[in-house]
Amino acid sequence: MRTQVGIVGAGPAGLVLSHLLHLEGIDCVVLENRSRASVEATLRAGVLEHGTVELLKSTGVGERMLREGAVHKGIELRFGGRGHRIDFVELTGGKTIVLYAQHEVLKDLIAARLAAGGTILFEALDARLDDVATDAPRIRFRHAGQPRELACDFIAGCDGFHGVARTTIPQSRRTERARIYPFGWFGILTEAPPSSPELIYAHHPRGFALVSTRSPEIQRLYFQCDPHDRIERWDEERIWSEFRARLATDDGWLPREGPVLQKNIVGMRSFVCEPMQYGRLFLAGDAAHIVPPTGAKGLNLAVADVWVLARAIAAFYREGRRDLLDGYSRTALARVWRAEYFSWWMTSMLHTFPGNDPFQERLQLAELAYVTTSRAKAVTLAENYVGLPLG
Ligand code: FAD
Ligand code: PHB
Repeated sequence: MRTQVGIVGAGPAGLVLSHLLHLEGIDCVVLENRSRASVEATLRAGVLEHGTVELLKSTGVGERMLREGAVHKGIELRFGGRGHRIDFVELTGGKTIVLYAQHEVLKDLIAARLAAGGTILFEALDARLDDVATDAPRIRFRHAGQPRELACDFIAGCDGFHGVARTTIPQSRRTERARIYPFGWFGILTEAPPSSPELIYAHHPRGFALVSTRSPEIQRLYFQCDPHDRIERWDEERIWSEFRARLATDDGWLPREGPVLQKNIVGMRSFVCEPMQYGRLFLAGDAAHIVPPTGAKGLNLAVADVWVLARAIAAFYREGRRDLLDGYSRTALARVWRAEYFSWWMTSMLHTFPGNDPFQERLQLAELAYVTTSRAKAVTLAENYVGLPLG
């Protein structure tokens, strides 16, 4: 089998790249090791930045997002028993975000690719990337019990943090920088109407909590936990009493409670691999970098990477230019490090660190007070949260 661009991974990075390349008339094949049902059911991000929304709309895959997603014009920061609104529209000259689940974006992209005759091979197992430093890279894998080989001009490693693409780059040719946080997020889905019209990021001595949403009937909430905790230790009553405590306000606000449909714990890390390319292999999304979820940046960074990569690949085929491909990593990393900083900053400001001394706690409160009273600082939060322009 032969294609121009072999894409490993059908997450946001791989599927958006495949869609953008198709619009440029470039042939590609996506290899995904999970089943379509599993990809379409995995619960992850929920916040789409302004630029991500515009990209999905302008490339013809935003129709259901516009119908079913919820436009949010700000968020609330809650601390010291009070809520403080950050008004995105006013602070960024009219920009908003859209709440629309990542797996819904993936369903829309998969449907669009298949309707256009695109190739996505699900349950493509044991992928191995060969000859990536030559002009004729290959991907060997197994599909439907048979060994297969995909010859390509380029390979896009969009296979997430635990994929094979990053480690295909020889260790001597990459540098990895990381920070592991001493907490995780306990996430639930609950069948209840929204507790609040906008997301609430709460700082509390018991730890961080976040109120997000999925639909008028289903809500998504998180609280900071020990990353080694076990979900079985948390029954519904214990979960809700933790949310009630951390989200409490002086005027008696309470979350709307409902049956807990799903629980999970995710660890938190910051991670960047530099450079994001080697020979004819280009990394995009979580394969190259991870952010803690506090800034809601992960999915959006994956989309921004492949927007840069698709333009570079198109310039190669259309005009024979190599400069954009050569500069891919440099261009992408400038945005990546901005998002790494923002995500680290939001995480550090809002979470309770184990062993936090009273001095540290006062510094966090001073920063939160500053963000919610200084226009300059509020603009910093707002413009990073709605996202920098794509290009
Ligand atoms: P992935 O989504 O990980 O996709 C990689 C794909 O490659 C997967 O389908 C995987 O099965 C496949 N794969 C892996 N290895 C192989 C292989 N060897 N062969 C073939 N296929 C392979 N981001 C936001 O922007 N906003 C948020 O609000 C947000 N909230 C989050 C909340 C949680 C709880 C979590 C866990 C993450 C959140 N994120 C958020 C982060 C976001 O989900 C990720 O950054 C995003 O999924 C990255 O997309 P990706 O395509 O790079 O990688
Ligand atoms: C989510 O809805 O899953 C979500 C929202 C905001 C975040 C992280 C996750 O910062």
